[in-house]
Amino acid sequence: MQDDIDLFVICDAGGIPRGGAASFSLSRQNDEGESRPFPILIIRTDDDVYVGYANICPHNRLWLNIGDNEFFSGDHNFLECGRHGARFDILSGQCVTGPCSGARLEPVPLMLSEGEVCAYGVKLVEDSPYPDPFSDYADYDETMEIMIHPD
Ligand code: FES
Repeated sequence: MQDDIDLFVICDAGGIPRGGAASFSLSRQNDEGESRPFPILIIRTDDDVYVGYANICPHNRLWLNIGDNEFFSGDHNFLECGRHGARFDILSGQCVTGPCSGARLEPVPLMLSEGEVCAYGVKLVEDSPYPDPFSDYADYDETMEIMIHPD
């Protein structure tokens, strides 16, 4: 989907339950025009607010969820990195405790349009079906693969 501000449909808004989160493997263009993996995370809060972040922990630059695909702390009050336990405020993305305390998750601007969660303001490109073995994210886990069609 494309609009005046280049909306990119990520998923159906109802596809993420309240209080839940989902990850997606996208690609975006870097400054050199190259397509690079861009894993993202979308959270739907209990209050029905959708929040998006790059699924990249500021500590080691790897995605937050490992193993069980869980994004939240046990009490569900924070996002939590499964590697070394950094905790992030859900609405701001700021790390409140852990090895990257004070750092922030990279926000992904989201908008709801016709019942779909859309990203905007990011140069997304059509995704490659296979992760780049030479990228920082070569050990991809079981995130959902989706295709982005900019036109
Ligand atoms: S990689 Fe996330 S806390 Fe270390």
